[in-house]
Amino acid sequence: MLSVQVLPSLLSADFARLGDELARCAAAGAKAVHIDVMDAHFVPNLTIGPCVVEALRRVTKLELDVHLMMSDPLRYADDFRKAGADAITVHVEAVGPRTMAQAIQRLRATGAKVGLAFNPDTDPRLWFKHFANVDLVMFMTVYPGFGGQAFIPETRDFIRATRAAFPALPIQVDGGVNRDTLPQVVGDGANLLVCGNAFFKDADPAGFLRWAESVR
Ligand code: DX5
Ligand code: ZN
Repeated sequence: MLSVQVLPSLLSADFARLGDELARCAAAGAKAVHIDVMDAHFVPNLTIGPCVVEALRRVTKLELDVHLMMSDPLRYADDFRKAGADAITVHVEAVGPRTMAQAIQRLRATGAKVGLAFNPDTDPRLWFKHFANVDLVMFMTVYPGFGGQAFIPETRDFIRATRAAFPALPIQVDGGVNRDTLPQVVGDGANLLVCGNAFFKDADPAGFLRWAESVR
């Protein structure tokens, strides 16, 4: 049975106090935090590089789940792993079908867990043949680039189709996951729930996390 786990997304944290924010995540009961890396090319925003991940690694034992929204993720995968990433997720749209098998091998060689991410309009079924070789798949439930966007309900079909085909595969969802949408995606089969605003802007993040991880 896959356990339901909330990954607070640091994009919604106070960047002036990231160390404190990590401590707040740990105190709330999180086991992992989600780190959004944006290159201003694959997405129209620019965020965090390996040097920040390295600084976070020094002050926390939380798992660091690194989401690479980059056009050339393989070029930086080793740097993020050396900086302390426990899991590295790359977008299938960035890697492309021809080099996907080699890309997965290269990511595996870093020693990190490997994830494949899908934009809201990318059909995962075309990529199912690779799913046995990765540790998780991730469905963007908003168009990547910014926190605080509204959940796109059409993505739920992809979650359901993937869960039906892969009963034991960890499925992550990212974007607009909150008290309304979280029970829906858990019902669809997602178990790794990235929550930015829903966690950090809640008056009681620990209460939110306890509630979220009890949803079946
Ligand atoms: C969006 C990022 C998300 C973002 C989610 O491109 O990948 O991780 O932080 O934020 P919320 O949960 O506020 O939609
Ligand atoms: Zn993300």
